[in-house]
This record gives sequence, C-alpha cells and structure tokens, in this order.
Amino acid sequence: MHFKDIDWNSLWQEARQQKSWKKKGNRDWDKRAPGFAKRNIDSNYADRFLELVQPEPHWRVLDIGCGPGTLALPLAARVNAVTAIDFSSAMLAELEKRAAEQGITNITTIQASWTDDWGKLGIPEHEVVISSRSLSVVDLQSALEKMNNWATEKIFIADRVGSGPFDPDLFAAVGRPFEPGPDYIFTVNLLYQMGIHPKIDYIEIDQTKTFATKDDAMESCRWMFDDLSPDEEARLAAYVDERLEHNEAGTYYLRRSSRVKWALLSWEKRTV
Ligand SMILES: C[S@@+](CC[C@H](N)C(=O)[O-])C[C@H]1O[C@@H](n2cnc3c(N)ncnc32)[C@H](O)[C@@H]1O
Repeated sequence: MHFKDIDWNSLWQEARQQKSWKKKGNRDWDKRAPGFAKRNIDSNYADRFLELVQPEPHWRVLDIGCGPGTLALPLAARVNAVTAIDFSSAMLAELEKRAAEQGITNITTIQASWTDDWGKLGIPEHEVVISSRSLSVVDLQSALEKMNNWATEKIFIADRVGSGPFDPDLFAAVGRPFEPGPDYIFTVNLLYQMGIHPKIDYIEIDQTKTFATKDDAMESCRWMFDDLSPDEEARLAAYVDERLEHNEAGTYYLRRSSRVKWALLSWEKRTV
C-alpha cells in the first residue's frame, strides 16, 4: 500500500466509532455547560493557547465550538471582534453571562453547528478561524475545508494528543474500557493530503489545580463518564481517596499519572 492511498477521513470515522463513550449532541453539552465552565474558564490552558497564537488587534476571530468562552472572552480584549459559535445554547448562555459581567461588548454569539450552512446564517469570513478542543465531527475533511474557507489569514486547531483530558487510570479503576478515539495525528495526515502543512505546537496543562473539598475533586473526575452506577461511583471515590493530597493551604490536590496534552495545529491561509 502507498501512504497516499490511506483514506484518513474514513480512518477518523472508524476510530470515532470505537470510542468508549457515546457521541454527544447539543442537549448533552447543555447539561455539561455549568460544570465545564467551572472547570475550564480559569485553567492555564487559555493562557498557553493565547501565548502561542499571538493575537493581533485587527483580527476578527471566528471561534467554532466556543463553549463557555474559554478563549472567546480573553481573546475579545486583544482583538477587534469575536464571533463565537456553538450548537449548545447553554454554553452560549454561560459565555454571554461572563461577557456581561466583564463588560465585554465585541463578542457576537451564534447558535450553530459545524454542519449548518454558515453562509445562510450570514456568518462572514474572518481573518482568523479557531477550533479549540471542539473538532467533534463525523466528516473531518469538510470541517477542515470549512475552517480554511472561512479564514482570510490564519487557522488554529487545538486537538487532543492521546488520551487528552481523560485519565486512563481512572477508567481502569472504575472498570470501564478506555478508547479515546482519534487524536491530532489523523488531522495532521489529512491536512497533509489536502496540501496543508501545519505548524505543530503542544500545550501541556500543569497539574496544579487544587480543590476546596473532596467533592470538588470528585466532580473533576465524574465528567469523564456517562451515567455511573453506584458501584462505579464507589470505585471512583476510592480512586480519588487514594490520590488526594492535602496541601499546606488546606486545599486538595489530585495526583494523576498522565499529563494532559493538546496539539495546536496552525497554518496560514492558502492563496493557491
Ligand atoms: C470541549 S468543549 C470546548 C469549548 C472551548 N472551545 C474550550 O476550548 O474550552 C467542546 C464544545 O464544542 C461544542 N460542540 C460539540 N460538537 C459541536 C458541533 N457539532 N457543532 C457546534 N458545536 C459543537 C460543544 O457544545 C462544546 O461547547
């Protein structure tokens, strides 16, 4: 077989079908919105992402799968305007609440999915298009083409490396199989076949997050699972007990054996 014959879009689809958890629709993300916002808004992920992206004041940024505004909110202070799109209305409500609290007025939110007709929705081209941890699509090639088509200058994608934010040891402890699905290497190969050679940086999240209570630490693990049974919940509690450390400040720190790592793929808009 020649490497050019590999159909990365089909391989991506097959790998997604083997994932350990079910595909999430907008209602699932609605339910996760408050917890996701709490866990992610102040994480050092956004700082690291922005350090690498180096935002420019003239940019209008299209943030696809913006969630509660993890990036849209800090970006808004540094660029001309942000269009934040997500298919979850609860995520957009989290973003709007925080924008209002912070007096941010240059973010436009639009409830839309990757596969909606963005032309019909009146979404214009933007200098920069980003997808941060939101490349949850069946047809990867169409999504990448769409990002490329909607950008006039640059494209940034933060994509999972290996297990990403999931903790394989925790899955083993709870007794569930762990298969995280495709990661950034599929995206890189497909981009290559599309004639795009992205720059690759990596974002590693510091494991410095502390929790006020044991329950907060439990909550930071529970999101990884759909519908835990009472037995599984007990095994999760035992796992947390074993790895929880009390620090001098009186808060808790959860020891984790794998570091959370993301790949930041970026490229300049093709002019050919
Ligand atoms: C893991 S969160 C990432 C949020 C934010 N970009 C960040 O990095 O913190 C994934 C987001 O993508 C959104 N999402 C998932 N599938 C989507 C789709 N098909 N169309 C639009 N948004 C989607 C979810 O609602 C969720 O807000």
